Amino acid sequence: MSLRIAISEGDGIGQEVIPEAKKILEYFLPDADFFEVELGLGKWEKTGCACSSEDIRDLKESDAILFGAVTTPPDPDYKSVLLQIRHELDLYANLRPIKSYGVDMMIVRENTEGLYSGIEEIGEERSTTLRVVTKAGSKRIAEKACSLVLERNPGRPLVIGYKGNVLKSDLLFRDTCMEVAGSYGIKTKSVFIDALCLDVLQHPKNYDVIVTTNMFGDILSDVCGYLTGGLGMLPSANIGENHAFFEPVHGSAPDIACRGIANPVAAIRSAGMMLEYFGMRSEGNILEEAIQSVIRSGVCTPDLGGSASTNGFGSRVFEVISKR
Ligand code: NAD
Ligand code: IPM
Ligand code: MN
Repeated sequence: MSLRIAISEGDGIGQEVIPEAKKILEYFLPDADFFEVELGLGKWEKTGCACSSEDIRDLKESDAILFGAVTTPPDPDYKSVLLQIRHELDLYANLRPIKSYGVDMMIVRENTEGLYSGIEEIGEERSTTLRVVTKAGSKRIAEKACSLVLERNPGRPLVIGYKGNVLKSDLLFRDTCMEVAGSYGIKTKSVFIDALCLDVLQHPKNYDVIVTTNMFGDILSDVCGYLTGGLGMLPSANIGENHAFFEPVHGSAPDIACRGIANPVAAIRSAGMMLEYFGMRSEGNILEEAIQSVIRSGVCTPDLGGSASTNGFGSRVFEVISKR
């Protein structure tokens, strides 16, 4: 049976960068069956619903999902589509590789609990958001992080980003990670997340795999964008037991949308992570080398200091791959 791949461009620059990534998937997966799932604010404006139960069913029926980005208005009545999908598909591991000249680390972000549990009470005088840390949730993300340590660099410590001095819920997270790492013979280093945000920028080569809770991982990954040339460069994979969802770390970037200048590298690299998920490691490497060679040749979008358009850059990468 051929692979079924759901494509959801979403809003804003999602609609510009995803077509560039999709072209590449179609090239490497000529027999796959691609289908669109419309999600996001644009859909909500048209239909009153940003992500329906049919959409969730369609996503669940795919072998993998490539997603752009959605706009989420800061409105108490508007639920984040992305959080809904991560919860409903139980995509508990958000893997965010940070790669650039000499820097090679992997942020392993817990993706279903923490401050993004969605358990909130909104009032006029007092609003609360429940930060959930469970032993089971911490254990499964620690297992994922440890398997990545073993796969990448077994000698290096697993860094645990936490804030257990203030948030006592993080002690359960830290202790569970240490326990799991201990069972694999992996050393750990626990670092307070605020200090970690600076230290990864000052000493990026000291880091390999970093495991952390949901919101800290969200912030830390944008921080690490600084090491790679910006948000336009960072891909991610959201992995669960039964589903896999690939998306850039960046959002819908309304400030640059509709101008054809968004950097498609994050989206194209997310497609590359999908190829690796399907076991197509050498195709993933070919894609990464093509991206780097195009950038080295001076073709890049304005965020990297160039003047290429989204499509201009994507087409160059496609050309390099297809003319091999
Ligand atoms: P953002 O990531 O969209 O943009 C932050 C900054 O980075 C902007 O200046 C933007 O122009 C720049 N940028 C982002 N991606 C880029 C790219 N590919 N090329 C060049 N520049 C790029 O974050 P934001 O502005 O805080 O949020 C905008 C909207 O996106 C909000 O509605 C937010 O909720 C949503 N959001 C969605 C996701 C997602 O769907 N995965 C992620 C983050 C934010
Ligand atoms: C990201 C985004 C999302 C997150 C939001 C939009 C729900 O910031 O993917 O990094 O926090 O995970
Ligand atoms: Mn984010």
